[in-house]
Amino acid sequence: MLELIGVTKKYGEVAAVQSCTLTVNTGEFVTLLGPSGSGKSTLLSLIAGFTPLTEGTMLLDGRDISRVSAAERGIGVVFQNYALFPHMTIFENVAYGLHRRRWTTDRIRQRVEEMLELIGLPQIAKRRPDQLSGGQQQRVALARALAFQPSLLLMDEPLGALDREIRDQMQQEIRRIHREARPSVVYVTHNREEAFALSDRVAILESGQVRAYDTAHTLYTRPANRFVASFFGAHQLFPAKAKARDGALEVSALDTTARMTAPGTPDGDVLLAIGARDIMPANGAASGLSVPVRIDDVVYMGDTTRLICRHGPSSTRIISEVDSHLAQGLSIGSDTVLDVRLERAALVAA
Ligand SMILES: Nc1ncnc2c1ncn2[C@@H]1O[C@H](COP(=O)(O)OP(=O)(O)OP(=O)(O)O)[C@@H](O)[C@H]1O
Ligand SMILES: [Mg+2]
Repeated sequence: MLELIGVTKKYGEVAAVQSCTLTVNTGEFVTLLGPSGSGKSTLLSLIAGFTPLTEGTMLLDGRDISRVSAAERGIGVVFQNYALFPHMTIFENVAYGLHRRRWTTDRIRQRVEEMLELIGLPQIAKRRPDQLSGGQQQRVALARALAFQPSLLLMDEPLGALDREIRDQMQQEIRRIHREARPSVVYVTHNREEAFALSDRVAILESGQVRAYDTAHTLYTRPANRFVASFFGAHQLFPAKAKARDGALEVSALDTTARMTAPGTPDGDVLLAIGARDIMPANGAASGLSVPVRIDDVVYMGDTTRLICRHGPSSTRIISEVDSHLAQGLSIGSDTVLDVRLERAALVAA
């Protein structure tokens, strides 16, 4: 549906987006995720047509839109700072794109009512934007972008300014709207949980380049490289050696060795990538690597508790996160053995 081929944007000598190649299927929800400055907003702005390309081609439904003006692309946009028109009522804001597309008055009224219903704010048509909360304004911006039924919707951190509760609610809202209206979506965030919750596929950006593009599940469980493992998976990385033996891998890390079955993973010098939730006090029965540690800190986080540990002569830092009821009795300064559960780990190239 949307095809980006070698898309590049340079500011002087610096490439904000570099040779980006990406396909978005019809109805697909794609998230761009990456650290600050990695090129997410620039890429979105290139697709929207707000920023001219330096190099590359963009196809929308097979049509080359690389040099087409933003207005003619017919793409819906919700940008964080792409505010509502302050002098217009909410009704007029949502109706704006419909007037421009010469819909009849009756059809416009019906559609605006439908959209305000969809965002759960049917009573506010006559108000002005400054009479709404930030979260409500953001929902209206969403309604405005969706009103003319764009086949492609672009959103740049639309929930960035909202507090946790409204954010979660809006996330559900976006999921529902996507299910019902079925636009293709390119969504920008630097919040992993949001990417997990919303996306069919996630593109991980680093320094203007797409470092991986896959389902959140695959990126999380089988990260393609160390950047994806640490940035997206929030995995800890430990130097390891892997050797194929009898149809399994023998993995040595943290001064101990255990077997793991991991199809298609590299061997030799690698990095063992694993999440804190997959490292836990062994209680005598380790299923993976058995690693003796000293507990440096015990951090209560509500449902879970984080154990900040240190292992061996070089004091390798290992973080374990366990259900809080399992952490009772573990105290700062005490020794314990951690079970690094290899069946949940991934190996990436060093
Ligand atoms: N108009 C501009 N002129 C020069 N450099 C720019 C311009 N816009 C963006 N850049 C640079 O391009 C790079 C990518 O910026 P971009 O805004 O796309 O990042 P981002 O991933 O959206 O970051 P954030 O998460 O902070 O919003 C940055 O290094 C930025 O400084
Ligand atoms: Mg940005």
